[in-house]
Amino acid sequence: MSESSTRTILRPRTAASGVRATVVAGPSTGVTATGRKITLGRSRIADLAVADFTVSEFHLELAPHEGGVDVRDLESWNGTYFEGGRLGRAVVPPGALLSLGESAIRVDLANEPEPARPMRDSFRSLLGRSTAMRELFGLLERLAPTELTVFIEGPTGSGKELVARVLHDESPRVRGPFTVLDCAALPSSLAESVLFGHAAGAFTGAVAARAGVFEAADGGTVFLDEVGDLPLDLQPKLLRVLEQRHVVRLGENRPRPVSVRVVSATWRDLRAMVNVGQFRDDLYFRLAQARLVLPSLAERREDIEILAADFLRRLPRNAACARAISREALAELSTRSYPGNVRELKNTIERAAYMCDGPVIRPQDLAFERLLERGREPAREEAVDDGEVPEFKGAKRTAIDDFEQAYLARLMTKTSGNIAMAAGLAGIERHYLRSLLKKHGLHSRERE
Ligand SMILES: Nc1ncnc2c1ncn2[C@@H]1O[C@H](COP(=O)(O)OP(=O)(O)O)[C@@H](O)[C@H]1O
Ligand SMILES: [Mg+2]
Repeated sequence: MSESSTRTILRPRTAASGVRATVVAGPSTGVTATGRKITLGRSRIADLAVADFTVSEFHLELAPHEGGVDVRDLESWNGTYFEGGRLGRAVVPPGALLSLGESAIRVDLANEPEPARPMRDSFRSLLGRSTAMRELFGLLERLAPTELTVFIEGPTGSGKELVARVLHDESPRVRGPFTVLDCAALPSSLAESVLFGHAAGAFTGAVAARAGVFEAADGGTVFLDEVGDLPLDLQPKLLRVLEQRHVVRLGENRPRPVSVRVVSATWRDLRAMVNVGQFRDDLYFRLAQARLVLPSLAERREDIEILAADFLRRLPRNAACARAISREALAELSTRSYPGNVRELKNTIERAAYMCDGPVIRPQDLAFERLLERGREPAREEAVDDGEVPEFKGAKRTAIDDFEQAYLARLMTKTSGNIAMAAGLAGIERHYLRSLLKKHGLHSRERE
């Protein structure tokens, strides 16, 4: 957004378990909050809610730190200033005055008793014991019952859709529909009709009248997945629906009222897109009344073990597969990089469970996984070798053929030749699997 500096001001150690923030100037003068961590902003669900329009919904976060208060500006619109300089993240001394917008805040250390909140490892179907996930559970608990629009940011496979689902399931709208719209798969010619519906004969091919996504979700929640892919020309139309709470079907002019809560997600950095004009800032602010950021799996390896155990537990009861994983295999799993995050871990566990020879997944059962993973890593230094170097293309084809053959043989044995199951396990399309089998002269027992 704009440049900000990170300054650390070191002071002697003090051990404090909490912070206090008090508004000392501005519209909310006198308001104060104490806690182990405080989020301050204009949002009514902020720990310290400030009625100042120049303050962002979630403007900054405060936490105790050795010798001072750790201040983290949450990329606020107008910034956070200390002694005339703009802060990104910094530790300031107790008693420091921060200015944000028209308000001034004094921050202090405070002693907060350990919270009585249970150390939970899950929130509905969301699992995690990392600090990041536990904090997320706390936020979800507070956010879910509200009508706020929630914007979820996080890399692919990090659980964005699951979080959206949990927000719906824990809300008063739970009896209403939960409708998912994948904005990345929206054909631009039909986009408006998909979103808002159409009257019969509204355009060529519109034979019957149809309700759009918003009408279909009336009384429930709409999840706009990959909202960063929403074409620019549709953005003002979406904004209008969010503001006016009604839709007009294509070919009609009668507004139909809709009551929907909107949750959206993307792996893209929407704020960066706003900066370059690819995403409208007014829409972003309307979508992100609250913003949740999901960390990558590599940033919370503590969660791998309970996730793995859960994925094993959920395998079909009558399937012939492993039901447990050894310490060593788990140790190996916890060193991987997971560009596909939780989804990748789930696929890895499921594949290994079906492909392994015994009831327990051991490191050697992860060998196929290692091959797959290696394909993505930059080439490693190979040991010195004086042998002849074969022509690249041929060598590559041979290596791939060998791999395919071994993989397919094992895959088809494990699934007793069931194509649908094998394709699901391998994570490839059936027709592609069939063509691979044909190429290697392998046969399947089609049971479809
Ligand atoms: N915290 C979690 N606990 C349990 N399962 C999870 C968690 N996060 C993700 N998953 C599972 O991982 C897969 C990918 O999650 P998804 O919500 O589709 O990710 P995204 O929408 O971010 O790409 C799903 O099968 C989901 O159930
Ligand atoms: Mg998704």
